[in-house]
Amino acid sequence: MRTGRYKTFVRGAASFMLIGICGAALAQNMPMPMPMQAGAMSPPAAGDARAQVHFPPELRREVLATMRMHLQGLAEIQQAMSQGRYDDAARLASMTLGMSSMHGDQARQEARYMPPGMRELGARLHMQAGEFILAAQDATATGDHHKPQRIFGHMMQTCVACHAAYRLQ
Ligand code: HEC
Repeated sequence: MRTGRYKTFVRGAASFMLIGICGAALAQNMPMPMPMQAGAMSPPAAGDARAQVHFPPELRREVLATMRMHLQGLAEIQQAMSQGRYDDAARLASMTLGMSSMHGDQARQEARYMPPGMRELGARLHMQAGEFILAAQDATATGDHHKPQRIFGHMMQTCVACHAAYRLQ
């Protein structure tokens, strides 16, 4: 019993520290080391506190495909920025994260099924993508790389915030 309790305490303390570290990283808009994020943010399956959102199966497939495109977009944008290709970064953001990254009626369909908080986070992501595109285009002229990098961090925080709060049924 004692050992069990101790282990639980240690595990609790460890995740508390991880959450603290990730919180600090978020506050400074710094990208988080992925293993820490996974460790701290994924609740154990049994105690999943995320709100369940019901999407029809067809729409759910489309949304998840868009999500995978978002992730690939972030990876490619990050790489473009690290190589100083800010015009490419802007183009990639418009293809994979902006409003035009979703086809036809998808955005409106999704909005119908989302609770207001989720809809707000979705809108925020697309707004940030718009800001990022402008900042990355400016960076090619002004050399101000800090601004697009900062907005990139904000976009990632929006991904994380929505994933922490919602899951699809
Ligand atoms: C408005 C809410 C919201 C935002 C913003 C959001 N996601 Fe998601 N994403 C979800 C939900 C809900 C799921 C399904 C999770 C589940 O059911 O466990 C998901 C799933 C995913 C998946 C898994 C796809 C699969 O095939 O299972 C990936 C990858 C992903 N998101 C990437 C991203 C990235 C990268 C961003 C930011 C650029 C992002 N998402 C922004 C809500 C969001």
